[in-house]
Amino acid sequence: MSAESLENRIFEPSAEVKAKAAVPSMEAYHALCKQAETDYTGFWGGLANELLDWHKPFTQVLDESNAPFYRWFGDGELNVSYNCLDRHLETRGNKTAIIFEADDGSSSAVTYRELYHRVCKFANGLKSLNLNTGDRVVIYMPMGVEAVVAMQACARLGLIHSVVFGGFSAKSLIERIHDASARVIITCDGQFRGGKEMPLKPAVDEALQDADCACVEKVVVFKRTGGAVNWNPAREIWWHDLIAELSDECAPVFVNAEHPLFLLYTSGSTGKPKGVQHSSGGYLLHALNTMRWTFDIKDSDVFWCTADVGWITGHSYVAYGPLAAGCTQVVFEGVPTYPDASRFWKVIEKHKVSIFYTAPTAIRSLIKLGADLPKQHDLSSLRLLGSVGEPINPAAWLWYYETVGGSRCPIVDTFWQTETGGHVITPLPVTPLVAGSCTLPFPGLQMAVVDEAGKDVEWGTGGFLVIKKPWPSMIRTIWNDPERYKKSYFPEDLGGQLYLAGDGAIRDKHTGYFTIMGRIDDVLNVSGHRMGTMEIESALVGNPLVAEAAVVGKPHDIKGEAIVAYVVLKGTRPSGEEAKKIVAQLRDWVGKEIGPIAKPDDIRFGDNLPKTRSGKIMRRLLRTLAKGEEITADISTLENPAILDQFKQVH
Ligand code: WT7
Repeated sequence: MSAESLENRIFEPSAEVKAKAAVPSMEAYHALCKQAETDYTGFWGGLANELLDWHKPFTQVLDESNAPFYRWFGDGELNVSYNCLDRHLETRGNKTAIIFEADDGSSSAVTYRELYHRVCKFANGLKSLNLNTGDRVVIYMPMGVEAVVAMQACARLGLIHSVVFGGFSAKSLIERIHDASARVIITCDGQFRGGKEMPLKPAVDEALQDADCACVEKVVVFKRTGGAVNWNPAREIWWHDLIAELSDECAPVFVNAEHPLFLLYTSGSTGKPKGVQHSSGGYLLHALNTMRWTFDIKDSDVFWCTADVGWITGHSYVAYGPLAAGCTQVVFEGVPTYPDASRFWKVIEKHKVSIFYTAPTAIRSLIKLGADLPKQHDLSSLRLLGSVGEPINPAAWLWYYETVGGSRCPIVDTFWQTETGGHVITPLPVTPLVAGSCTLPFPGLQMAVVDEAGKDVEWGTGGFLVIKKPWPSMIRTIWNDPERYKKSYFPEDLGGQLYLAGDGAIRDKHTGYFTIMGRIDDVLNVSGHRMGTMEIESALVGNPLVAEAAVVGKPHDIKGEAIVAYVVLKGTRPSGEEAKKIVAQLRDWVGKEIGPIAKPDDIRFGDNLPKTRSGKIMRRLLRTLAKGEEITADISTLENPAILDQFKQVH
């Protein structure tokens, strides 16, 4: 089928899906939207009372007096870990909370009661380190039960965690530890990935040598691989030693609903990552409610979200949402291609996964490595599929739908961001689907597409994606930088009231369905990972060889976007073997400065960068060059047009 006709095809939900779904029809969906429109605070307040257990009930739903620093359920008190564990003990104590699928293919199960005791015990360990409510704890761990235990234990004590993805370098770790003034770091000796044992602690050791990490008092190390480690007994303690003598009961610390649950650093359009601050009450409400309405979670489901806890998806749909919902979930340590490209399908078959949530980049690479592999496995347990992190192209969508889902499972293409806490535009299981469209707003979310002046555009016209009203799980501020929060998300140009998502979007003329057209700022999406071009540029110019650098994205079949760097060296422009050598050096350098995910795919050299007379880098031109397309733009202002030919050369 051609891409064009596929985009016009509508996939209706089956009678079976409709019969079971929590939101059973589009009429029911529209009724929820209507309810939110007519009584916004009643809608959210009702859900918060229905879905969460409050230690002290709230009397005010939304406080807008200090907009855009909104407060939700601001005089209520609760504990997130209590809502994820304690409240299930009576009815679900013996139910499996986590099926841990290790890299080597072995698996083990943890019940809600066991998880509760593990969280309590570790929380007592953290307590013994004299941490106070509100202190920051950095978690630098691979996927595993302990990563979830560490996050939940922080939540239990009102400690603010900041998880740093294990693929980030020591340099990135320093930046995040310093900005958050973390007192404790929780890490592992190493990790298993794709059959290999990889050390993790050395990055922490290296980071802590930096004066910027003087705030760190203790490092707790979970023994995962048993590999050799350097040890500083004054500062470091093994996880098992820390908890050895401690009780497995620990009273939750009830906190204000607005108490920060966590910080999560993400890329913006400047070189410095933003510490996105999330709340306790509003955040958990949306994590749970999206489990109910988007994923239609039932007690009998086995839920599997493949995201790492280092990203927001792993926060909302591994560490918090599934546990708040009391469901059984798979936590996966490995990679999709080990021992071979059927690993996902094997795991689904083995654990009878019913809801599977992954990223388009994984789907595309698995199509390439074995489009027929799913057919060799019994995937009949699946009833719902999800996609997240980047646009899913219609061809990959169709394969996912037919080959993985057996044309029986709806695909929820969930659009959201680190800042939104949970889904904001997404189909529900009953939504008629169109390949490549995230369809309609989640009930209650006031999504719109506007022009440069903040005015609504008509359906069929592209514009900026905004959210018109505050919502419970929204970012509260940027840690240490409230001004940047205001400027980045509530820009004055748009009137200062609208939340600017940073993506372009268009609504279908007839259905009103949303299609996301990609970022409007200098943020790239590489394999579903958000990368700032400025971050990569500042890493590059930090190299002694480099005078100037400009980074842009180019479309990539598997990764969505690939990173292209245009570099001006301090010395002469290299060519041949010399150029290849420097390319390798610079790629390594960026890997060390930020992390392997930020390594440019393509580095090109020129005598200078193409700039306008006023000195602005002509990025559009660089994007055209990256794609290998002909330049049609006016280049008469270029001082040295010969550089365009230089920058066409790939090394
Ligand atoms: C950016 C946010 C969503 C959690 C993981 C990524 C892009 C995300 C979709 C989707 C099209 C999407 C946007 C967004 N994005 N989901 N379903 N369709 N684009 O969170 O790292 O904060 O990145 O990812 O560009 O702004 P993030």
